[in-house]
Amino acid sequence: MRTPLLAANWKMHKTVPDAVGFVTAFAPRVAAVTDADIVLAPPFTALAAVADACRNSRVAVAGQNLHWASQGAFTGEIGAGMLVDAGATHVILGHSERRQLFGEDDAVVARKTRAAIDAGLTPIVCVGETLDQREAGETLTVLGRQLEGSLAGVTPAEIAALVVAYEPVWAIGTGRTATPDQAQDAHAHIRRRLAEIGGDEAADRCRLLYGGSVKPANAEAIGGQTDVDGALVGGASLDPGSFAEIVDAARRAAL
Ligand code: 13P
Repeated sequence: MRTPLLAANWKMHKTVPDAVGFVTAFAPRVAAVTDADIVLAPPFTALAAVADACRNSRVAVAGQNLHWASQGAFTGEIGAGMLVDAGATHVILGHSERRQLFGEDDAVVARKTRAAIDAGLTPIVCVGETLDQREAGETLTVLGRQLEGSLAGVTPAEIAALVVAYEPVWAIGTGRTATPDQAQDAHAHIRRRLAEIGGDEAADRCRLLYGGSVKPANAEAIGGQTDVDGALVGGASLDPGSFAEIVDAARRAAL
């Protein structure tokens, strides 16, 4: 059985007081949750404060990106060891906003994935097709290519321990969600490809999250799909009540 994982991607939102205020409201709300893993990904500036605020809870903390080098002359970048130092245990990699707006390709994501694993972080590796690619019937090919490229050099044991997020680009921040069937089809394909890359056991253990306009109202239906093991939530994770409702919905779906 895969434990559901709910991850909040705050993107470029929240100051330190806003972020700590979220945890103050959210942590008690999920204090009794032992059947799901919860991760908050604040902006870099709030990482240490959020990690500190989460210290006596089961809520973990993630970076939203990293640089593949451990240190050096890379102005504006953050290394994996720095994320660990700030209290992160996870890191989101290859988000479509990084791919589209900041030019990251699969080779870059692979280098970042390796750096994350070597530093002891759990990567949440994002893949997903654009609307044009979906309409051209290329969804499964694109997902396979992204997976293969982004996980190049990753061992079966490492695949088992990492997280893949399927985020159709057309569903991110648009209010347009993949149907539960569309999500399941994509996730089943991702799991098949993971099995080809790392074997059946690794594919079976790897958690696959859906992301793209997840809300309290649709989280249970999507989370109830066989190969959906949780969600990566943007907009609806900014409010503690709404994200807590999504956690509850995903737990109901996993029953
Ligand atoms: P929304 O939930 O705002 O659509 O964002 C999804 C996302 O990009 C999470 O990483």
